Amino acid sequence: MKLTFIGTGYVGLVSGVMMSYLGHQVTCIDVDENKINQLNNGLIPIYEPNLETYINICKNRNALSFQHNYENLSDQDAFFITVGTPTTPSGRANLSGVYKAIDSILQVANDQALIIIKSTVPPGSSLAIQEYIYSKGSDIKLANNPEFLREGSAVVDFLIPDRVVIGISNPSSANKIKDMYRVMINGQSASLLDLDANDDRVYKANHEIITDLTQYRKKNNLSPTPDFVVTDLTTSEMIKYASNSFLATKIAFINEMSDLCENTGANIKDLSFAVGLDRRIGSCFLKAGPGFGGSCFPKDIVALQNIYREKNTDSLILDAVIKANKSRPTKMVRKIKNLLGHLDGKQIAILGLTYKAGTDDFRNSPALEIIDILKKEGAKVRVFDPMGSKIIDYVDNLRKIPNIAGHEIHIESYQSERIVDLEEICDDAYEACSKANAAVFLTEWVQFEKLDFIEIKKSLKDPLIIDLRLFLDADKVKKAGLNYHTIGS
Ligand code: UGA
Repeated sequence: MKLTFIGTGYVGLVSGVMMSYLGHQVTCIDVDENKINQLNNGLIPIYEPNLETYINICKNRNALSFQHNYENLSDQDAFFITVGTPTTPSGRANLSGVYKAIDSILQVANDQALIIIKSTVPPGSSLAIQEYIYSKGSDIKLANNPEFLREGSAVVDFLIPDRVVIGISNPSSANKIKDMYRVMINGQSASLLDLDANDDRVYKANHEIITDLTQYRKKNNLSPTPDFVVTDLTTSEMIKYASNSFLATKIAFINEMSDLCENTGANIKDLSFAVGLDRRIGSCFLKAGPGFGGSCFPKDIVALQNIYREKNTDSLILDAVIKANKSRPTKMVRKIKNLLGHLDGKQIAILGLTYKAGTDDFRNSPALEIIDILKKEGAKVRVFDPMGSKIIDYVDNLRKIPNIAGHEIHIESYQSERIVDLEEICDDAYEACSKANAAVFLTEWVQFEKLDFIEIKKSLKDPLIIDLRLFLDADKVKKAGLNYHTIGS
């Protein structure tokens, strides 16, 4: 099939490339000409493990192209809309990018083409967009096909989904979309690449060669093919919000349990493990930490809260989740302060800046908020992140070059708030720890687990390690003569 993806952010780029990999002829469009030029020159604007390899394979097959306009698209079978839907100050999702894409598609698409919304849109939006299309005199059908990809494991998540949700207003659309995912249904050989395992610790590098999707699913106790859930447009939209909100709720819940473990003498690691073994609960998203961040959970739950408000319906649970997550950074700083006595004039090494490991994204990263509060309380920070320092360097250069708008999405929180200064960015963890009163681990990068803690001890002024992600090997850290503190015990 001939498929076009509009918007080459995380969702659009990964989905477009992987659809091409599954055997379709894919065109990825972005209004940002610079981004398209980069992609055409082999530069990938985001960091996503293995994506570059897949892009090269698809380009070599002549099955993938990038363009910044809507030329030569009259023969497309479907247009996927994968543009951003940022939250407006009022809490609503801004759909102007989606409507812009619709207008452009209507200029070029043939009547048989299908428009598929992959961007996260509030319930009722797809129906309204379908009406908008009809009002423009077009008979093109609209479908909704939400994505469930996690940054850092998006490629694997795409190939091995738990389910594919298809929201439709017309039965024939469902078959067309199922056909796009046909390789997953037929279990054909889909990959000869070395992929990271689809577990919660992508960087645990449990490498595996996936040669057959069905075999892979069988070995991992997954159903032979992903479930295809065909439903109406609005339910499909709600499924996306419900999924993200439920996962966010799980995290907020376990974080609160972690606080109580600290006060009762229990330990959150064993608690999470044991609770997660209950199949009714499940072990995923039960890792306590400094709070959830990223471009999805915080945005989607606020948008959903706003939808509740608009519909005059109570959102008591969601309200509590938002409140609980907002309180996390302050709680984390209080913990650091208690361990150090006071913060004024203290030098703190911050290890990890991205909102989780395996991504170059620090939108809504709890690390940024924690740094902000630490500084307000008089502490000095020195920061290292395997990705963050690279980006900040890059960002600083970008500022001198106008019109590279496509990248602002990565850096908006950093750029607007200026939380970290360039001179605070270190080249490695040892440099960040130099003469510091404590090393605080804020992102669970696997590289940090491999640090030489004897060297870290030599760098630090005071032998204090604070692991806010519960991921370091406590024995290894203690053996190096360091005092190890974490959350939830
Ligand atoms: C999330 C969802 O997991 C995807 O299914 C969804 O497609 C995506 O949002 C989206 O809407 O586009 P993502 O934001 O990439 O994906 O990252 P997650 O792995 O879900 O992590 C989100 C946040 O929760 C991170 O800050 C992470 O550190 C935190 N987290 C996650 C925890 O604190 N504990 C956990 O056990 C799991």
